[in-house]
Amino acid sequence: MSANKKVLVTYASKYGATTEIAERIGQVLGQAGLDVDVLPAGHVAGLERYQAVVLGSGVYAGHWLKEAANFLESNESALAQRPVWLFSSGPTGEGDPVGILDGWRFPDNLQPIADRIKPQDVVVFHGKIDPSSLHLGDKLIIKAVKARTGDFRDWSVIEAWAAKIAEQLTTP
Ligand SMILES: Cc1cc2nc3c(=O)[nH]c(=O)nc-3n(C[C@H](O)[C@H](O)[C@H](O)COP(=O)(O)O)c2cc1C
Repeated sequence: MSANKKVLVTYASKYGATTEIAERIGQVLGQAGLDVDVLPAGHVAGLERYQAVVLGSGVYAGHWLKEAANFLESNESALAQRPVWLFSSGPTGEGDPVGILDGWRFPDNLQPIADRIKPQDVVVFHGKIDPSSLHLGDKLIIKAVKARTGDFRDWSVIEAWAAKIAEQLTTP
């Protein structure tokens, strides 16, 4: 009998919303029998032991957080050799997340790397903004751009996406 596939779910998160999404994805993959590590992108030592990688970041002014962007850049060649799934956690408000963002799907500056890695899927999930937890500068930005505040993460969408990944990785 062969060992279960080992999957890395890694992320960058400023206020914890993306951490919780990564943890939920990890739970779904684990329940499907995969061997999962869920780790902050800055804490990953190497990808040798992983057969697949899920990487996500909170979105700030159209960019990924530095840890996730650095991870993508510094592991490009290892990522290109494995199935990879990318997600962003960002828009608040109702409706299709990409619609809320006027078609934004992924940071422009990282798109060339993603093109070389050829991810299995790239998605945008709704995010969470809790004004009481924001640093002052972020609070002012949110006010200035009149962003909706609240927790708009749709766990059934996130779980369904993770279940599709699990299916792909457990189908012989
Ligand atoms: C200052 C600030 C700027 C943001 N800019 C964007 C943005 O450009 N696009 C977007 O979709 N979401 C944006 N958001 C929303 C965050 O991406 C969302 O709250 C996300 O879930 C945060 O994840 P984290 O807590 O893991 O960092 C912004 C939030 C803040 C506080």
